[in-house]
Amino acid sequence: MKILEAKNYNFSNVKYFSPLQLSEHYLLYTRYINSLNEVNGDLKENEIYNNCNSNYSDIRSAQKAKTFCFDAVKLHELYFENLTGNNTKIHGPIEEIIEDNFSSYDSFRDKFKCIGMSMRGWVLLCYDRYNNEFYIYGQDSHDNGVMLYAEPLIVMDVYEHAYMIDFGTNRSIYIDAFFQNLDFNVVNQRIRKI
Ligand SMILES: [Fe+2]
Repeated sequence: MKILEAKNYNFSNVKYFSPLQLSEHYLLYTRYINSLNEVNGDLKENEIYNNCNSNYSDIRSAQKAKTFCFDAVKLHELYFENLTGNNTKIHGPIEEIIEDNFSSYDSFRDKFKCIGMSMRGWVLLCYDRYNNEFYIYGQDSHDNGVMLYAEPLIVMDVYEHAYMIDFGTNRSIYIDAFFQNLDFNVVNQRIRKI
């Protein structure tokens, strides 16, 4: 696997989040990239395949770290990409999808928020290629609860590190702030690719 580099994001129009909150979160993302590059380097070494043991072995640790870090990188990129503070009025294909599947944007937001309040890692609106359905699902960590064939359309981080600096333990206010910065142009671009 090629060496990955952190992508850059423009947070200048993001409202209700401080520069410190956003920069600290971005820093965590870059650390997942660094760790992923490190583990990918280790996996190229033949020695790591000498001890194959499901209780404790270097290859086991590397495999666990690879999925954890790689999912963390992908999820954070999807999150930062849809958190711009631009194009925040719902419009286009996503509006139609939400009305068809959740009856109204308010109803969708309430459900998305409830799942976000109930999980420990992530909440996503996705399109599932398996059954051609749209639904919201939650993950307890980067690599726990990942859904196969699900294409993420809206991605929100609910780890405490995503909001603790600005919102303390008040996740509810954080989720409201997230929705006021959600970029529906980005969401619609994702829909056009499915
Ligand atoms: Fe995060």
